[in-house]
Amino acid sequence: MTENYVTINKEIWNADAANWVEFAKWRWEAEVPIWGSWGNPEADLGMLPVDMSDMDAIELGCGTGYVAAWMHKRGARVTAIDISEEQLGTAGALADERGANITFLEGNAEATGLSDGSYDFAISEYGASIWCEPEKWLREAWRLLRPSGRLVFLGNHPLSLICSPIDGSPADRVLHRPYKDMWGADWTKVEFEPTGVCFNLTTSAWMDLFAEIGFQVTKYQELYAPESEFGTRGAIPAEWARVYPVEQVWHLTKQG
Ligand SMILES: C[S@@+](CC[C@H](N)C(=O)[O-])C[C@H]1O[C@@H](n2cnc3c(N)ncnc32)[C@H](O)[C@@H]1O
Repeated sequence: MTENYVTINKEIWNADAANWVEFAKWRWEAEVPIWGSWGNPEADLGMLPVDMSDMDAIELGCGTGYVAAWMHKRGARVTAIDISEEQLGTAGALADERGANITFLEGNAEATGLSDGSYDFAISEYGASIWCEPEKWLREAWRLLRPSGRLVFLGNHPLSLICSPIDGSPADRVLHRPYKDMWGADWTKVEFEPTGVCFNLTTSAWMDLFAEIGFQVTKYQELYAPESEFGTRGAIPAEWARVYPVEQVWHLTKQG
């Protein structure tokens, strides 16, 4: 595993932030939430409680803040943390334009410095869920939640990593990497579209980690691209993502 991944990922997101502003505006304007690379609808996934009034919620690795905005619209008091000041610049500007009262913080989602047991609900969509070391950010999320608090997170499905060529070119139907002992991938030096260091685990390793930390799995979802989609997103072609699970969503409850 690449040791200095936090610094690497921060620099990459600062450099790439300008490319996500238009996408951010579009998602901030969404009447109902849509999720992941392929815009799967909230009606299918149920990632957010319908009524979040009187809830304290936190987004871990909030990027441009549209998930935080959706929680704010549902009535939650929202804190959103990200390591990239440039991404937070976009998030803060969009919140100010809309008068959305969200607390944006700059920091590492693996060690937020926030108080124990201060949130009812935590979420990550392609934030800490893929850019942070699983054991570190999951323990931090557990610490931040109140008893019976919920954590929902979305990231890449392990199969999409297995089928992604080592040079960074788009996924295909070949097994390019071992599944056993999967930890993620360092995309910083690949030939095609280099990015940062991302994490993922085998399904059984995720489940072992949840149990060890004290999370109960309440739902697990595997996501596909809708039939109507074409093109390639996040180095995964739609024709792959329509028939193989491209993303996964874990719904967890804090035990104890
Ligand atoms: C794909 S974006 C966030 C997703 C958000 N839903 C969006 O699209 O705007 C990934 C974010 O994770 C953030 N990130 C990466 N490593 C992080 C860390 N250790 N702590 C907090 N945020 C981190 C990046 O700065 C980036 O803004």
